Amino acid sequence: MGLRFVLLFSFCCFAANAELHHLKLTRHNHKEHKLPHTLGHGNIRNRLRQKYGLDSVAKVNAVTSHTTSTGSVESQSLFNYLNLQFSMDLSIGTQLFTMAPDTGSSDLWAPGKECTFCINTCKNTAFNPSDSKTFVSSKQTFNITYGSGSVSGTVDFDTVKIGHLTILNQTFGVVDNSTMCSTFDGIMGMAFPNLSAMGAVPPFQNLIAQKQVKDSVFSFYLKSDSPAGSLMILGGSNSSLYSGELTYTPVTKPRYWMFKMNLIGFYQWDYRNCLGSCDAIMDTGTSLIVGPPKAIDFLNKQIGATYNSNYDLWTVNCAKISTLPNLKLHIAYEEFYVTPQTYITNISNVCISPFTSLAGLQFWIIGDVFMRENYVEFNPVKLTLAIARSK
Ligand SMILES: *[C@@H]1O[C@H](CO)[C@@H](O)[C@H](O)[C@H]1NC(C)=O
Ligand SMILES: *[C@@H]1O[C@H](CO)[C@@H](O)[C@H](O)[C@H]1NC(C)=O
Ligand SMILES: *[C@@H]1O[C@H](CO)[C@@H](O)[C@H](O)[C@H]1NC(C)=O
Ligand SMILES: *[C@@H]1O[C@H](CO)[C@@H](O)[C@H](O)[C@H]1NC(C)=O
Ligand SMILES: *[C@@H]1O[C@H](CO)[C@@H](O)[C@H](O)[C@H]1NC(C)=O
Ligand SMILES: *[C@@H]1O[C@H](CO)[C@@H](O)[C@H](O)[C@H]1NC(C)=O
Repeated sequence: MGLRFVLLFSFCCFAANAELHHLKLTRHNHKEHKLPHTLGHGNIRNRLRQKYGLDSVAKVNAVTSHTTSTGSVESQSLFNYLNLQFSMDLSIGTQLFTMAPDTGSSDLWAPGKECTFCINTCKNTAFNPSDSKTFVSSKQTFNITYGSGSVSGTVDFDTVKIGHLTILNQTFGVVDNSTMCSTFDGIMGMAFPNLSAMGAVPPFQNLIAQKQVKDSVFSFYLKSDSPAGSLMILGGSNSSLYSGELTYTPVTKPRYWMFKMNLIGFYQWDYRNCLGSCDAIMDTGTSLIVGPPKAIDFLNKQIGATYNSNYDLWTVNCAKISTLPNLKLHIAYEEFYVTPQTYITNISNVCISPFTSLAGLQFWIIGDVFMRENYVEFNPVKLTLAIARSK
């Protein structure tokens, strides 16, 4: 396998229509960053598992469950791929898939057996409807465009299981055509119904409707530099995973997980961006932080990052990491920070800046780089995000 690429701010969804018009489609929208040879697709997951002595997905993606009379709290382990992508197990019908939980989109889909690209090039597991007794098909088709490519196929229904939780009649896509590969098979969208390209109720909202979860919240605890240890908690939060109290901020427009950010800049350095307030979304499906080009250039220059056209990313000298300041974000007028050891992603001595731009973007995208030091709880009923420093 030759040089392939990893999709850095991969699947923040620009659902087919509206957003695509706003966003002039620059090459940034097909952000396929070529990175060093360690980053192959296809069998990478299995090779990684072997490397870390993890023999099965099930072992990495272990689940603990606490069931009460009012529903469960499910802690699902996430598999961390090089700090860039996080994935989990989910089954559709009786088949198991590796899915990326994505708070930046709202659709669930899996590769289908017609998708030769998914099977041959991406080495994905393909959904076979005839293996499922609960599968119901519709003749409706869909096409979703993400930051990193697009998928199309048919809209269908089946039973979905996440750990011990069961969702009956979940709308999902069976992909028959795709232009993107990843370390996972499919995506589980966790934003609002308003963003769904299939007009579907997303899985978590169905878990609430079907009274499977204790509370109407899910949380992410992302851990750096280890394939294991990251968690997605469905139906609750775990206060042992963060310090102090959660800071709540309202979701300003329930489509993406959009909130007001009051500042983004470096500790003790000159701040220029987002003074007062600007729109931002919390997106587990994006690895880095994405913002408007001018603001991103300013932040990158402050840390001495230079644009690398090979990778279409900004990089810094790895030797300088320990001299860089903490990155800080103000949310609900509270300060949250990320240390340079976390916000600079070192992939085989290519040290990647967290800041990447997207022309025409109307809001900031706050990705995993932030969540790898800050625990985030999402409440789609009360329309709040709650944040605290991770332990
Ligand atoms: C989805 O639609 C877009 C625009 O019509 C098209 O360019 C793209 O190829 C389609 N994607 C797939 C996977 O069919
Ligand atoms: C499954 O969901 C779809 C769309 O939400 C609905 O049209 C259909 O009636 C449902 N089927 C069952 C068996 O509940
Ligand atoms: C997949 O997309 C390509 C290019 O858009 C098209 O030629 C082909 O017919 C599509 N295949 C399927 C199975 O939809
Ligand atoms: C989604 O929200 C936007 C405004 O935020 C609204 O214009 C649009 O009609 C909504 N779409 C759906 C499908 O609810
Ligand atoms: C919360 O997290 C801690 C630390 O990982 C763990 O020991 C504990 O079992 C978790 N509690 C629940 C209820 O899952
Ligand atoms: C970057 O990662 C490589 C391994 O890929 C490691 O050898 C090197 O020490 C790391 N550099 C820094 C500055 O952490």
